[in-house]
Amino acid sequence: MASALSALRSACRHGTSASVLISGPSGIGKTTLLAEICQQATRMNIRVGWSKCDPIEQVWPGAPVIAALRAGPDPLTTAGVYEQIAGVVSEPLLLADRIASRLEDLAAVQPLLIAIDDLQWADRVSRFLLRSLLSRLASLPVVWMFASRDDPVGIDLAGHDSVHLEHVQLAPLTTADLAAMARDRLGRVPDPGHAGHRQPGPLGRSRGTRHRRRRVRRGDGPPTRRSA
Ligand SMILES: Nc1ncnc2c1ncn2[C@@H]1O[C@H](COP(=O)(O)OP(=O)(O)OP(=O)(O)O)[C@@H](O)[C@H]1O
Ligand SMILES: [Mg+2]
Repeated sequence: MASALSALRSACRHGTSASVLISGPSGIGKTTLLAEICQQATRMNIRVGWSKCDPIEQVWPGAPVIAALRAGPDPLTTAGVYEQIAGVVSEPLLLADRIASRLEDLAAVQPLLIAIDDLQWADRVSRFLLRSLLSRLASLPVVWMFASRDDPVGIDLAGHDSVHLEHVQLAPLTTADLAAMARDRLGRVPDPGHAGHRQPGPLGRSRGTRHRRRRVRRGDGPPTRRSA
């Protein structure tokens, strides 16, 4: 959370773009963290566009990126502009240009956060659009925030030579972390007789899994790409 917010603050302060990738296995809390960051961004007076990719082949190629322009209570485009953009959905080059122009206009007035969830399911047109937009808007205060189950797909899409990439990897807490939390709560070292008593839950997870959230590991994962 802290590193994602710091990327937002830095982009606002320096007027440059940044990219944040939140990755981790299913159920670890990526969507929850992304939603929280979007809320914080709104409080920081940043315009927010939010969208998610779909596992069952998309409504229309490029839809996750286009939909981000019209999401939430304060959409990034009016219905008229949205219609103009969606009207060229079958022409990806024109589509990228129209979306970029709209985002450029917005970023000239106020910093932007574009958040795309479930990036592992991005269709080919969405991938093309994201690459084009990251490159074209690199010198503007536009922060891209992605959540993905898949590290390589996320790094490939979120990383761009001219945009700083922050990679936040969420992973389950270790046994040592859990023991420390238990010690903290109980005020004593947990009874070793109770250790290992986590039974598999209905989906095969241990019951403790739900509570082992959000351990942000940095520095021990795959290398992240950063701008020079
Ligand atoms: N920090 C947290 N503390 C407690 N519960 C949490 C926390 N973060 C997420 N959860 C809960 O865990 C569940 C899974 O979270 P979430 O949907 O954010 O996971 P995800 O990583 O996006 O999973 P997926 O890859 O399947 O989309 C949700 O019910 C959410 O409310
Ligand atoms: Mg999710």
